[in-house]
Formats: sequence, structure tokens, C-alpha cells
Amino acid sequence: MDKLVVRGGNPLNGTVRVSGAKNAALPAMAAALLTEDTVILENIPQVRDIVTERNLLAAMGAEVELGYGRAQHRTTISCRNVVNPEASYDLVKTMRASTLVLGPLVARLGHARVSLPGGCAIGARPIDLHLQGLEALGARITQEHGYIEARADRLKGARIVLEKITVTGTEDLLMAAALADGETVLENCACEPEVVDLAALLIKMGAHIEGAGTRTIRVHGVAKLRGARHRIIPDRIEAGTFIVAAALTGGDLTVANCDPEHVGALITKLGDCGVQITSGTDWVRITRNGALKSADVATEEYPGFATDMQAQYMTLATQADGTSVITENIFENRFMHALELVRMGANIKIEGHHAIVRGKTELSGAAVLASDLRASASLVLAALVADGETIIDRVYHIDRGYERIEEKLRSVGAQIRRIGRLIPERSPAAVAIE
Ligand code: EPZ
Repeated sequence: MDKLVVRGGNPLNGTVRVSGAKNAALPAMAAALLTEDTVILENIPQVRDIVTERNLLAAMGAEVELGYGRAQHRTTISCRNVVNPEASYDLVKTMRASTLVLGPLVARLGHARVSLPGGCAIGARPIDLHLQGLEALGARITQEHGYIEARADRLKGARIVLEKITVTGTEDLLMAAALADGETVLENCACEPEVVDLAALLIKMGAHIEGAGTRTIRVHGVAKLRGARHRIIPDRIEAGTFIVAAALTGGDLTVANCDPEHVGALITKLGDCGVQITSGTDWVRITRNGALKSADVATEEYPGFATDMQAQYMTLATQADGTSVITENIFENRFMHALELVRMGANIKIEGHHAIVRGKTELSGAAVLASDLRASASLVLAALVADGETIIDRVYHIDRGYERIEEKLRSVGAQIRRIGRLIPERSPAAVAIE
């Protein structure tokens, strides 16, 4: 199993480019199930979750060509012959976002069989709101042997008020409503940029959608959708992770190919911490002259501070003078990284959904374990400022969502390398080119 070895102490200088957004690419690939025509997606990130989604679609009979290495990381998907509308337990257990195929499958083929995901490292994460929404659209839902079966002749538009704001729930229902008969009004929707990007793709495919990016989305269902070509938005969480890395280590880093508006809450918070940030249309430049100052933060739905940046911010808080209270409002168990940071010398106390971080503490390199994707990122960041060498185990978590993170960080001055294979092997994503 791969490990990352990091030697701390180097400031990050230069320019690092952000890849396409994993969490926009996953629903976009699922959206290809809505049409018999070919969907071409550009700027697909070369990460493990995309390979999982490719395998998921291919197991149904879709043709998916992951064109890494070609211009624009272009991916071509044809779901003309979907013979097996099923997401198996083996795939869903490795990636919960597999449940995004539920809405498109039942909308186009009238049948979906999707394994129920279990709990995960960051919380229980039920999908009850996806199911309630599909039922409101007329799907008959049953559950047996750990699988959800959804059936419908043709979905019918409805008014759906989501009890809680859910990103993939909004996306799943948006895709289902696109092919439903009549008008659907979705209320209390997620406004995340990934939802807006999915709506943009669906509109290119012929869907009638208004209000994406606001709490109310209206969809006028159509009988058929066509193929389209679409470029995935930049990954705001990868961008945010590099921004925090620069703030932590000092230096002068430009994060290129990102949308500064998508990281607005983070930029504001880092300003409170004493970090200097300037931005243009698609870049952010980070410098720091003085010491980092503590600042409290609470995670919220977009446009608030992203839960997916909470772990990385916690690492920053360990290096700030004073006490920072970090409140996690989205997931109930998203502090696993805190225990590993404490092993590196941080002073963090967890009280319910609050983490009280007292800084500044010197961090020292240690062997640490990554527990989930963003937790792994926070450990890499800690390692960049720790004294000596840190070895991060279970790197497969980071490979799910960060494209070549060690190469990108090395190119701007970090001392980071990957170990673990006696015989060098191509990454699973690279294998998928063929
Ligand atoms: C998406 O997960 C992201 N994943 C997550 O990114 C991200 O952390 C999360 O949104 C919040 O921003 C993808 O986009 C693929 P939710 P999602 O439904 O959609 C509860 C990463 O690191 N809920 O918005 O699964 C849920 O338990 C990942 O890249 C229900 O109760 O999250 C949570 O408390 C991790 N019932 C809250 O809503 C439901 O049916 C928000 O979750 C659905 C959700």
C-alpha cells in the first residue's frame, strides 16, 4: 500500500494548477445515463473516484473512454446500451456517490437497483431524502437484501421540499426531474457550484431548468435528452487545499485555473488569520508576512465555509497564535484527523461538534494514518510544516480526490514523495486510459 513521505519546513513558491472538480465530474458522468447519445466531458480529474464511476457505468453496459493524456482530460460516455441498471454493493461501498445513478436510471429506463450505502468514516450519511424525492416523482421504491429498487413507467413532476440541504440529493432529483412528465419544483436545494455545473450540462442536453444556484429549482421535464459537450468546473476544494498549504508554509504561491468566487468563504476567513490574498478571474495569489492569527470557523452549506475544508483549516489553526473554535455542522463525525494531528503535537480538544484548537504548537513528523479524503489532505498539510519526516499511510484515500498531489506540491517546493511499491506500477487511473 502506498505511503507519502514528507519532510517539513519548505515554503511553497510558484504556480500550481487546479484540476477539474471531482464532485462535479461524478454527477456529470451519471447524467450521461439520461441519454442514448454520446456525452463528452472535458477537464475530468485523474483521480480514483472517476475510475470507480467509469467501472460503475461500464458494469451497466455503458461505453466509457477516460481520455487522460489527451487534450483537456476528455472523457466520452455512451449509455445507448444500458443492459443492467444496477449499482452493486462492491462499487457503492467504495464510493457513496455511486447512488447518483438512481435518479437518471429510473427516469430513463424505468428501473434502478442500487446497493444501499452503509455508514462511512465521516457520518451516517443516509439517502432517505433522495428516496423520498423519487417517491414524490412517482417511483415505487422497495428495499431488499441491502438493495434499493426503484421502478416507474414515467416519472411525474411534483413539488418537493427537501427537509435538509443535500448536495447529491439535489443532483439526483434534478436529473430525475429533467425527464419527468410536467413541472417539478425542488425547494431547499443545495446551491453548491457542483449543482450549478450539473444544471449547465443538463441544459446543454436539452433540459429546461431554472434557478440552479438558488434554493428553489424549477424543472420542466422533457421526453428525451440529447448528447452534449461540457467542461467541468475547477475543483474548489483542491484549490482551497493549496491555498491553505501556502498560508501555512509561507512563501508566495499562485493557485491557477480556479474560480476565486467558489473559495470566497475560505479567502475571507484566511484574511482574518492575517494571510494576504489577491485574485484575478481564474487565479488566487497567497502571501504571508506576519504570524498566523486564530479565528473561529463553522462549516455551512455553500456559500458558507465548506465542510470539505474543515480538516485543512484545523491544521492551519494549530499554527495560529491563540484559540480557534471549529464547529462542524454538516457531518456528525468529521474530526478523525484531530487525533492524528494531536499525535504530531497539536493541542486539540473535541467537545461534541466543536474542536478547540490551541495554537501555536510545534508539530513534529510522525507516522500517521489517513482516515478519509480530506483528513488525509490535512495530514499532508501538517507534514509540510512539521519538524522532520512524516509518513502518511492509507494514501488511497487521498488518491480518490486529488490528482497527483505529490507531484503538484513538489513542483512548488515541497519535499514529498510516494513510497510503497517495490516494482513501480502505473496508477489505476493511468491504467484506465487503455
Ligand atoms: C457531498 O456529499 C459531497 N460529495 C461531499 O464531499 C461533501 O462533503 C458534502 O456534499 C457536503 O458538502 C459529492 O458531491 C460526491 P449531503 P453528499 O447529502 O451529497 C444529510 C468529499 O470529501 N443527509 O449534502 O453525500 C447528510 O447525512 C465529499 O469530496 C440526509 O440526512 O452530502 C449530511 O449530514 C465527502 N439524508 C447532510 O445531509 C439524505 O438523504 C449533507 O449531506 C442526504 C443527506
